[in-house]
Amino acid sequence: MPIISFTSWKGGVGKTFLTVNAAVYLASKGKKVLLVDGSRSGDAELMLGIKAEKTLYDVVLGSCSLSDVVSEKYGVSVLPIGFSLEAQRRVSWKAIYKSVKELSDKYELILVDTPPIVAGLVSRREALGSLVVGDLFYIVTTPAKTALMNALKTKMLLEKIGKKVSGVIVNRWRASLLSKPYYRPSEIEAFLKAKISAIIPEDKNVMRSINASKPLVLKPSSPAARAIVKFCDSFLLSY
Ligand SMILES: Nc1ncnc2c1ncn2[C@@H]1O[C@H](COP(=O)(O)OP(=O)(O)O)[C@@H](O)[C@H]1O
Ligand SMILES: [Mg+2]
Repeated sequence: MPIISFTSWKGGVGKTFLTVNAAVYLASKGKKVLLVDGSRSGDAELMLGIKAEKTLYDVVLGSCSLSDVVSEKYGVSVLPIGFSLEAQRRVSWKAIYKSVKELSDKYELILVDTPPIVAGLVSRREALGSLVVGDLFYIVTTPAKTALMNALKTKMLLEKIGKKVSGVIVNRWRASLLSKPYYRPSEIEAFLKAKISAIIPEDKNVMRSINASKPLVLKPSSPAARAIVKFCDSFLLSY
């Protein structure tokens, strides 16, 4: 069973939103899903309305066991890593990977939310560490030139370390972006030399769902939720 990561060099493109909603939808389809808050930000827990009392940090400190820190919400099991500075320092990517592997027998799908790889702010080791946890990668980007350039850097880095890029997810799309100076989907594919796996529209319901800690796919009629459902359905057919 593959470990699927949603990643990008850039922050704010929708990695956590997509990972959380894909996890909730796939769980609603009867899959046993583990969501790993590999972004180490606590954002995934916040989007799900989980207040993690214990995290992997406590496991590393020896005060509880791995099974004590996995919590359930909307049918998804969530592994919180802990986001205090001390947790960032003490919980290595090796420890995260080991824990994911230890839990993997119990799950059919493992989805990993990753941090942005912000040059200069995150060490190279931390950046690479976040990528070591995954087997398959979806690169998340918006249609903005800066995000696309960062998506390209992410793809090159993944290829350099021998990881498989399954596709690109273009988030915050608007139909009005079809003429210059915007990039059409075909131009994005040509620029990144990668296939677009999903186009998620800009949707005002996204922030509402985040602020209410209610994943958008619970309201499947909204445009962004529909696109996530479509992506997950085709994803389920291929695995
Ligand atoms: N499809 C979308 N439509 C509208 N807003 C979106 C969409 N996707 C993401 N956002 C906004 O972008 C913000 C950042 O998303 P997030 O998932 O936290 O990004 P990342 O994890 O890449 O840093 C969210 O708080 C939300 O308000
Ligand atoms: Mg995030």
